Amino acid sequence: MGRLAINGGEKVRERAFPSWPVYDEREREALNEVLESGKWWYGEKVREFEEKFAAYQDANYGITTTNGTVALEISLISAGVGAGYEVIIPSYTFVATATAVLKANAVPVFVDIEPETFNIDPDKIEEAITDRTRAIIPVHFGGLPVDMDEITAIARSHGLLIIEDAAHAWGSRWKGRGVGAIGDLGIFSFQMSKNITAGEGGIILTNDEELADTCRSYTNCGRGKEKPWYEHYLLGGNYRMTEFQAAILLAQLTRLDEQVAIREENARRLDQGLSGLRGISVVRRDPRVTRRSYHLYCFRYHAEQLDGVPRARFIEAMNAEGIPCYTGYPHPVYKNPLFTRKGSGPRYCPVSCPYYGGDMDYTEVSCPVAERVCQEAVWLKQFVLLGTKEDMDDIIKAAEKVIENIDELR
Ligand SMILES: Cc1ncc(COP(=O)(O)O)c(C=O)c1O
Repeated sequence: MGRLAINGGEKVRERAFPSWPVYDEREREALNEVLESGKWWYGEKVREFEEKFAAYQDANYGITTTNGTVALEISLISAGVGAGYEVIIPSYTFVATATAVLKANAVPVFVDIEPETFNIDPDKIEEAITDRTRAIIPVHFGGLPVDMDEITAIARSHGLLIIEDAAHAWGSRWKGRGVGAIGDLGIFSFQMSKNITAGEGGIILTNDEELADTCRSYTNCGRGKEKPWYEHYLLGGNYRMTEFQAAILLAQLTRLDEQVAIREENARRLDQGLSGLRGISVVRRDPRVTRRSYHLYCFRYHAEQLDGVPRARFIEAMNAEGIPCYTGYPHPVYKNPLFTRKGSGPRYCPVSCPYYGGDMDYTEVSCPVAERVCQEAVWLKQFVLLGTKEDMDDIIKAAEKVIENIDELR
């Protein structure tokens, strides 16, 4: 029998971490109010949530959607991104960042990330810009704001749009400004795992009234502002949120400040405890990040410093100690069959589109940092960070224990 729980030793902890979603009487009452009002459809609650959430992130306008994926698609289309254009995105993100570009008939161009932040590397953006580039989508990965000073400077000097993928970043602030409202447009997700959730849901933020009206029209069957109901101006769809979703989100929003503060404090404790350990490096936080939502707490595991013991074994050992960590994305987005299966997928624009005229071949894309991070990353979910100081200390203790006894895993 070894010391590690995976080899029959005593576990660091038996107790479960907090679970998700968090709800109480606030959600119950809000849902009942909508139920009993008989007004279930796209009304007062949706408007109230749009206003409150936009104000929370410092934006002038908020347009809710059915989810974050369509929020991205509609943002791109509303900003005029379409056939013949390229859009720069990070290679380490959820697939929706890339598919939204394809759905807008444009071509995603993958840029590598910074190993210390998991965010797009601003120094690598310029070399990816061509005369077809129309927009950049910075993803605030795990809720950590991208360097928006750099992104804004690059976008300005090349005349590019910025559409922030803030799907993980409710409450995050760059130099005191709410993310998602720094670029031309920004989107958030309220899917079940997210830090405020209605099961599904999304929102687009912007400070530009015309863009806001266009986004609204696309989400609402192409209708015109203050125009007759059965008159349709754009090729829109029905991407409207319900009053039930908005009611839950309004209740969730009342808890967000407190939860952000708890996660930030716990993350600081984890950073302190984990950063000194052999073979572990924690994420770098730029001092200009004035608030961070922590949708994920991530660190990197360097097998080469730990006798070559693979990350998968480390994670199994941590799980056996009672710590629910996992690996995250298995590979950068461009390695998905959607991109590598050249010509054998459904035939759609844009990559094989005559408007494009380029010759994008995703099998030739190489982002070595993202590929390495996919092998090194260890993720903890946001609700683990809602635990107590003792819960965080258990995570640190388990990592210390596994690393001290790494020879048991060989
Ligand atoms: C970075 C990123 N962008 C966009 C989305 C899409 O959001 P949704 O799941 O609400 O469609 C997600 C979802 O997890 C995401 O992680």
